[in-house]
This record gives sequence, C-alpha cells and structure tokens, in this order.
Amino acid sequence: MTLTPSKRPHTNPLSEGRPQRTPKTPRVTVLSQRRIEETESSDDSDDSEFNSDETSSSGDDDDAIDDKENDDDSSDADLDDDSDNNNVKQRNTRRKTVKLPKNKHLISAAKRVRILQLLPKRVVSSTHSAAASLTDEDPLARVRELLHVSHVPEVLPCRDAQFEEVYTYLVSAVEKGGGECIYISGVPGTGKTATVRQVIKTLQSQISDGSIPEFKYVEINGMKLTDPNQAYCAIYEGLFPGTPKVSAKHACDLLQEVFRKPSTDTVPIILMVDELDLLLTSKQTVIYNLFNWPRLPSSPLILIAIANTMDLPERVFSHKINSRVGGTRLGFHAYTANDLAVIIGSRVGVPGGAVLSDDAITFVAKKVAGMSGDARRALDICRKGIESLQLIIAKNDASLLAPYISAKDGKPHVTTKLIQSVIRDLFSPTVVPFISNLSLHQKLFLLAIRKYMRKTGTTDAAFVDVVDEHKALCAVVGDTGITPPNTWLCQKLALQLFAGRLILMEVGKGVSAGDPMQRCKLNVSEGDLVLGLRDDKVLERLMKREV
Ligand SMILES: Nc1ncnc2c1ncn2[C@@H]1O[C@H](COP(=O)(O)OP(=O)(O)OP(=O)(O)O)[C@@H](O)[C@H]1O
Ligand SMILES: [Mg+2]
Repeated sequence: MTLTPSKRPHTNPLSEGRPQRTPKTPRVTVLSQRRIEETESSDDSDDSEFNSDETSSSGDDDDAIDDKENDDDSSDADLDDDSDNNNVKQRNTRRKTVKLPKNKHLISAAKRVRILQLLPKRVVSSTHSAAASLTDEDPLARVRELLHVSHVPEVLPCRDAQFEEVYTYLVSAVEKGGGECIYISGVPGTGKTATVRQVIKTLQSQISDGSIPEFKYVEINGMKLTDPNQAYCAIYEGLFPGTPKVSAKHACDLLQEVFRKPSTDTVPIILMVDELDLLLTSKQTVIYNLFNWPRLPSSPLILIAIANTMDLPERVFSHKINSRVGGTRLGFHAYTANDLAVIIGSRVGVPGGAVLSDDAITFVAKKVAGMSGDARRALDICRKGIESLQLIIAKNDASLLAPYISAKDGKPHVTTKLIQSVIRDLFSPTVVPFISNLSLHQKLFLLAIRKYMRKTGTTDAAFVDVVDEHKALCAVVGDTGITPPNTWLCQKLALQLFAGRLILMEVGKGVSAGDPMQRCKLNVSEGDLVLGLRDDKVLERLMKREV
C-alpha cells in the first residue's frame, strides 16, 4: 500500500469544497487529489490522452517487453463506484507482496571502473564554503542563508554512491547513443533531484573537454504541469526551444517521430521527469509513452524518471508499463541521523562552530531521522533556530540572551533547548487547534480510525471499517442526538480530512477515492489527536470509554 507521505505541517484550513492542487504538496497526495477530481468530474479526461502507439503500430521490438495488455483497463478502477460486490475480491487481492529489485550497480563492474576514471575529482568538504563565511560580519545571517534549501552545495554530502551510480549509468547510456531508462525513487528531501542535476552539470562540463559525447538535456516536473498531457508540450519545447507552441496531441506525435526515426545527426537526449507520479492518469498513457519511447529501436532517448514511491511500477503502473520500466532502479534511502548531522555540519561549517551547538545539530538530526529522514526538514529546523536566536538578540536584553551564550567563544549560539521550542512551534500548535475546530463528524471520523487501529493493532484501516466504527461511535453517544453518517457523508469527511493532511489515504492501482477498501491512516500523533478532541465533552467521554 502506498500511503501519502506528509511533507508539511497542517497549516491548510479544511475546506468544504473539493481538494485543490496546491504547489509543493506531497506528490502522491496530489496524485490522489487528481484522482479525486477525476472521480468527481463527469467528463472522462482519458479521451484527451494521446497514446503514441495509436499513431503507428510497430515499435515494440524489445524482447524483454511483455506486451500482454490484459490490464489495459485496470486503471479504470480509478473511476469505479464503491460497488459492494467487489469488496470481498478486492479485500483478498489488494495486499500482494511485491518483489523489488535490490540496489546494485547499474552497469557492469568493468564499465563502471572505466567510466569512473572520467569523473572529475569531487571534494565533499565537511566545512564547505560556510567555514569562510563565518568570518563575515554577521555569521548568523550568513549561516541562515546557507541553511536555506534553495542553497544546494556543489557536492552533496552522503550522496556519493548515488552520484556515481547515476553518473556511470548516464555516461554508459550516452556512449550507447540512447535507448535507456532509469527509475529513481526515495522519500521527499533525500536529494534525488539535486543529485541528478549535479550529475547532469558534471556531464555538461565534460562535453566541452571531449571526455564524453554530446547530448541534449531536458527536464520536466509533473508538479509544474497543469495537466499530465502538457508533459508532451514541455518536452517538445525543451527539445526545440523557440519553436511555435503546439497542442499536446501534436507535440506527442512530433516526439514520437523524433524518438522513432531520429535523424542521423540526432544526439542522445537525456530527459529527466521529476515528480513522475503526478503524470498518472486513469489510462496511464503519458507514463506509458515516456517509458515506451526509449524502447523504440534506435531511440536516442535516455529517461530518468523520479518518484517518491519505490514500488510505484509494481503497485500502480499497468503491466505493460512496468515491463518497460525494467530493473534499472535506484533507491535513495532516507537520511540517517549521522547523514543529517553531516549535511547540517557541512553547511554551518562545524564541528565546533559557533552558530549551532554540536548538541543542537545532533538533536535535529536524530529528531528528523526519526520522523522522515528529509534533509529539507532538518535544514528548515536549523534555519528557524537561527531566526529565533536573531529575534532574541534583537530584544537587546542580556538576561534573555544569557542561556544562549556559548561557553566556548562567548557568542550567542543555537542550543538544543531553542531547537526544541522551534520544533514545538513548527509542528504541534498548528495541529491541535486545527483538530479542535473540526466539525463533530470530522472529529468522530478521526476517532473511528484510532479506535479501529487500537482494536486491531494495525497502523491503518480500510475505509469501510472506519465507517463501521464511526457509526458505532455515533450509536454509543446516541443519547446526544448524533445522527450516524451514511457512506456518502463519510466519503466527504475522508476527503476533507485528507485535504487538511490529517489523514493519509492509499493511492495505488485500482484504488479510487471513497473506495470501500481504500486504506487510510492518521497523519497526526495520537497525542495531538487527544489534545485536539478533549475539549469536546462527548468525545472526551468516548475516549475515556475506549481506554
Ligand atoms: N546530501 C545533501 N546534502 C546537502 N543538502 C541536501 C542533501 N540532500 C538534500 N539536500 C537539500 O535538500 C533539498 C531537497 O533535495 P532534493 O530536491 O534533491 O530532494 P528530493 O529527494 O528530490 O525531494 P522531493 O521528492 O521532495 O522532490 C536540496 O535542495 C538541498 O538543499
Ligand atoms: Mg525532487
């Protein structure tokens, strides 16, 4: 099961309306929201998907490709109603075990050794340019700037292995002339995009010295497209900048032509598709084309597909796409506490630096590694710590500043205590009042998930089970006149809570919003949930009965 990861604190007010696509929300979440929109919409947007195979019949010459297209319609389940007849079958088939390819070297050892000799020397420095900056007049401001996620260092610490994998793979693919694809996955903030960009930058710098053949590079991002079909236009414009704009259908045909019959002077084309999950449509045509193009004979295309979910191909993609993805996969694991400490340290120029205490860095690293392993989050917390310290300094009150003066150099620094208060501010306070302001049925729905999870010892629950629990809770407090909800109302509640990031909902092949078997789970800690609900006497009573 793929449950949507949470990337941000719960700052969005719950809206009664349909969830809107917002910038930089978790990609799988957005995918799910799009599915919801498709479900709610009466038009079938699939009519506007363009399958380049329809324009020409041949092309799948790769023997490795299994082209049994028996699951062509499998994704139509996105639009299915919650037909009770399917429940039992779905319940039995939903959780199949997926065998994932292990992370191993992507190309042969001999080739790898040869290609790595081409790689210019890269220095991962633990002090990086930040060390020099500490001599600046305002080290706090400088380090705060360096901690900003938009500041990407020249060499990413703790990503050497992944850099080398991508580098060797791409050099090999460019030397071959194209016809390759790689699927990169990993949870948010693990350096996927940054690593690929660094590899591309390195490769581009090597074209000029002749150490690797020329190639073209195009990058698109699912998050930035208004519609998955716009991917065709974005790729076309990237390949042929300055050409007149064309429709998505036309762009798809033109690209098909480029990849099917490249002219003799066509150089390899590296296409990075970031946030691939967002290009999913019910028939998955855009993603099919992306993975099919490199498989066409003499295709110059080298596809780098990036997504958050490792098993997206197995769980979500149709069989024919999955077979085209192949086994060239690279996983970016979540950063460990040690990794995060190194990443933060490399930016602030420590060990022993003046701005963040070593203890504070260790604390942030451990905390974030325990939550998500997301470098963005770790850097943000440190940056907020510095901002808090700056606010304290600005008050010009020696007694307020005293706890933050370092014994080492007598200068103010960010302590663990300050970081703790930053974390408290960043995370909890927004959630608790957010929960207290929900409607009674929204609160009951959250409570129903908790009740089911406690009863069964699982970490998530099928939508249908939550509805049953919800009704049972209403019956328990029946004397207070709560009308039990029907399934339709529960679907609405789930969507609203999902839009507010209070719950996570399963996204996967054949799973649609409001599907009775769709799995959901709380995206708030039980502690925050209890705090948010306890002001309501009825709910407090319910929670007491449960304990
Ligand atoms: N190893 C690292 N060293 C230093 N900074 C890093 C490292 N990894 C990530 N970062 C920082 O985190 C930011 C996010 O990284 P990146 O965009 O590559 O993550 P991602 O895995 O692509 O996440 P998402 O799935 O959300 O797109 C980068 O801009 C960079 O500032
Ligand atoms: Mg990314």
